[in-house]
Amino acid sequence: MTGDRPKLIEVALPLAAINEAAAREKMGMKHARPSTLHLWWARRPLAATRAVIWASLVDDPLGDESLTSGEQKTERQRLFGILERLVVWENSNNPEVLAEANAEIDRCFPDGPPPILDPLAGGGAIPLEAQRLGLEALAGDLNPVAALINKAMIEIPPRFAGMPPVHPSIEKTLTTWERAQGLAADVEAYGQWMRDEAKRRIGHLYPDATGLDGEKLTPIAWIWARTVASPDPSWSGHVPLVAWWVLANRPGKPKVWVETIIDRDTQTISYEIRLTVWEALQYLVAALERLESEAAELLRQLGGYADRASQLAYVLYQKANDKGWTTEAGAYNALITAWPILATAAATPVQAQMFSS
Ligand SMILES: C[S@@+](CC[C@H](N)C(=O)[O-])C[C@H]1O[C@@H](n2cnc3c(N)ncnc32)[C@H](O)[C@@H]1O
Repeated sequence: MTGDRPKLIEVALPLAAINEAAAREKMGMKHARPSTLHLWWARRPLAATRAVIWASLVDDPLGDESLTSGEQKTERQRLFGILERLVVWENSNNPEVLAEANAEIDRCFPDGPPPILDPLAGGGAIPLEAQRLGLEALAGDLNPVAALINKAMIEIPPRFAGMPPVHPSIEKTLTTWERAQGLAADVEAYGQWMRDEAKRRIGHLYPDATGLDGEKLTPIAWIWARTVASPDPSWSGHVPLVAWWVLANRPGKPKVWVETIIDRDTQTISYEIRLTVWEALQYLVAALERLESEAAELLRQLGGYADRASQLAYVLYQKANDKGWTTEAGAYNALITAWPILATAAATPVQAQMFSS
């Protein structure tokens, strides 16, 4: 409290707007966000963090004796309006929205606002949002990785604010490099160089994979296994030590596992990624009954298996129809009918992104 005045957070908040912005941030937006800088656990949504900091600093009109009770309500609604605009992701760097929010903080702290300290800063949501609101932000964490994330996100960018990039290949015709644009251009250019260089030197160790239809696929993760000389006298080679061949086993999604193909004649082991098309189809039918977007996302994840699921849906529809199983036939028919829409949605990156959880 400043004097006798309670802060907004102590009286009321526009929770619906804050929740909506926080859910959207957590569920839908996964690219080019601070949270993708480095994985960290228990990150607070930035929208909610921004709201909490701002509402902890701005006075609620409750203690303002110059206002009638009705005027206090009107004033609170005005503050809610500012907060509702402030939590919208697209307004994160909107100078007018930020200026409006800052003006309220300044009004409540004529001698300057207090610094914000988060000694358990983790992924850095609190210091980042404090900095966005123009406050002095102090962060610490026991874990050096968290400390590094905070340095990279909060401490280093302001040092290079307004400075041009240094990478020789970057076109420098922009006369002004706003905020950390110059630093971001350098990170991108040097990051690309490191990626190209790594590919040149060790890329041969990470070959492309081959999809179901013979298409080339780029693996995004590799599972390494130790091998030991086989104790089996009939097997001369090495065998991998792997306790768990399952790659994915999430509720509502088909199980995916690695099948070991053992060829005793050539004494070789090869590996194939497998899932049951029938199971995938059942999950697609169930997902469509819940939400079209859910089915589209699953279809996207199925990749090359989607066509097989579609073919199986036709076969099972025919069989169910012949046998007079109307419920089953109806469910397969609904999927077949919706397939073109689902396939289009699944192939659209932005939509697919928004559906992913
Ligand atoms: C839940 S996370 C922080 C979340 C973050 N404040 C936010 O709002 O997104 C808790 C953090 O506290 C850190 N931590 C735990 N014990 C600590 C200690 N004794 N000193 C400093 N940091 C500590 C952990 O490393 C972890 O990053």
